Amino acid sequence: MSRVPGLPLHPAVTLLPFLYRPFPFLDAMAKRYPDAFTMRFPAMPKPAVIFHHPDAAKEIFALGPDDAHAGQANAVLRPLLGNASLLLLDGKEHLRQRKLLMPPLHGERMSSYGARMVALTEASIAAWPERERFPVHERLQAITLDVILRVVFGIGEGELFDRLRERLVGILDLATSPLFLLPWFQKDRGPLTRWNRLARALHEADEMLYAEIRRRRASGERGDDILSLLLDARDEQGEPMTDGELRDELVTLLAAGHETTATALSWGLRWILASTSLRARLLRELETEGALPALAPERIARCALLDATTREILRLQPVVMMVGRVLQRPMRIGGYDLDQGTPALVSIYLIHRRPDLYPDPTRFDPDRFLRQRFAPHEWLPFGGGIRRCIGLAFALYEMKMILATILARAELRLPLFGKVHEVRRGVTIAPSRGMPVVMERRDSNRIHDREDRS
Ligand code: HEM
Repeated sequence: MSRVPGLPLHPAVTLLPFLYRPFPFLDAMAKRYPDAFTMRFPAMPKPAVIFHHPDAAKEIFALGPDDAHAGQANAVLRPLLGNASLLLLDGKEHLRQRKLLMPPLHGERMSSYGARMVALTEASIAAWPERERFPVHERLQAITLDVILRVVFGIGEGELFDRLRERLVGILDLATSPLFLLPWFQKDRGPLTRWNRLARALHEADEMLYAEIRRRRASGERGDDILSLLLDARDEQGEPMTDGELRDELVTLLAAGHETTATALSWGLRWILASTSLRARLLRELETEGALPALAPERIARCALLDATTREILRLQPVVMMVGRVLQRPMRIGGYDLDQGTPALVSIYLIHRRPDLYPDPTRFDPDRFLRQRFAPHEWLPFGGGIRRCIGLAFALYEMKMILATILARAELRLPLFGKVHEVRRGVTIAPSRGMPVVMERRDSNRIHDREDRS
């Protein structure tokens, strides 16, 4: 029976580089240990095994609801998302809830949001400063937040919408500290601490959410949004979800559904703007597919190079760098015998950077996705198996709508001395300094044309 290798160091030694310089740390570990290594995390009773061979990812993603629990591995998110969050549920309850949440994020329901995604991006561009450096991440975050608020609540404006948006942005900004991934820092240690401010902001957002849940329950008002679906859902005993359960699911969708996509878009601009030829090819494709000048969502969705570009963005800069499961029985994974209770993690980042899968892996090359199809355990920015992100199709679609609109309506460039590096924002890994860009020119005529038409 073989043991997984790993540095015999105290967690405090490995934790700091893991939190603050995760990619160089993971690169160094992968160099030393070719397919898997162990690491101790403070919140986990047993050392975790980090796998970075695609075959091991395939084995882990094939595990059933009783073999491995992701909810247990995601426990660090509990104070923010709550016990009933899809990310924290396991077993039967997880599968039931997941089935309920999937349909609004797929197929026709999803495409019905395309025009709104384009219009919101155009409106945002209309307010971007010209010929000066500005951090684009927060603008992208505002667009994706508006989109997800519409999908989840079916509302696009109004007082609740504005107040909730403001609170959520505040919460997410406060929650970006890597230290909050450690249980010790998830405690209220007085009114001056960041956790205290976060707890208060969460409480205020919760009040708004509960008020909206009560209002919708009482009025019977329903739409094509996710809250409507959840309000009408019944369990096997015919019981509706409680207000607390509804709150946890709504916060999960709001949190998981916009910062991730905004971060991927920020990285996207980092790479697209670095290549004049790629930008030109993407614009040509939009033209050829008839997506210009009107930016019809169904035409944008047909663009193969744009699709390949979104996939390459998520390969090179996976927003979430690893996913985890806690094994519920002893089992063999990647050739190693592991005990019950072992946290088995899959490093998305390291698999995406394997030269045997992706030659010249640090190069941004969307064409690799035109030349080849990758298996779900080779390209895995959304995790996999029964826990794969329910927003996969939605996020890829939204990325294409927003990137196409930016390419068509704004001439952006990277600023001089604007080099960015990876920084941790909670569980996501984003470009530093809010991803600075400069807008040289805005195609305002076209934006106004569109406004006149709508
Ligand atoms: C580029 C954007 C996104 C990325 C990179 C991303 C990534 C991920 C990852 C890595 C997981 C964990 C999967 C696993 O454990 O195997 C996940 C789960 C999840 N994501 Fe996303 N996500 C994105 C967008 C979204 C969107 C738009 C939504 C919803 C509107 C969403 C909702 C969720 C939910 C609810 C889960 C939990 C699924 C479960 O446990 O069954 N995500 N996501």
